[in-house]
Amino acid sequence: MKIAFKINGKSITKEVRPSLLLIDLIRDVLKLKGTKPGCLEGECGACTVIIDGYAINSCLYLAINVNGKEITTIEGLSGTKSPLHKTQEKMIEHGGVQCGFCTSGMIMTTKAFSDKCIAEGITPTRDEVKKSLEGNLCRCTGYVKIIDAAEAVYEN
Ligand code: FES
Ligand code: FES
Repeated sequence: MKIAFKINGKSITKEVRPSLLLIDLIRDVLKLKGTKPGCLEGECGACTVIIDGYAINSCLYLAINVNGKEITTIEGLSGTKSPLHKTQEKMIEHGGVQCGFCTSGMIMTTKAFSDKCIAEGITPTRDEVKKSLEGNLCRCTGYVKIIDAAEAVYEN
């Protein structure tokens, strides 16, 4: 099937087989390796990308369903020459990265949630920030610092 979509601001048209998963389109076809394959069954959130504003597990999403949509991956948050996105800066400042395998998923989930909160003029509580990340697992168990970082996104 032929699909047309935008990824990180770039328009793409591709012929894909109907069973191709979005994570495989992103990593293997488009060679964007920042989106990580973890459990591949919707449990860990390592593969999270943003589609039309929503954080989505790309391992559970068929590539054909991005037709007409806009995807953002971790590569779309900052270029090699542009500054880091606030979610990335806070993750570094608060020491929220250990092995880094969960990090892009944590950041994409945090970005989708913070975009929504900011658009609605809401500053979430720590519990709400924690809840927003409940679909993302960190095998290094660095949750306190990751949550500190996600909460700090709302600081001025
Ligand atoms: S790899 Fe997709 S949720 Fe774990
Ligand atoms: S930093 Fe290692 S899995 Fe989270």
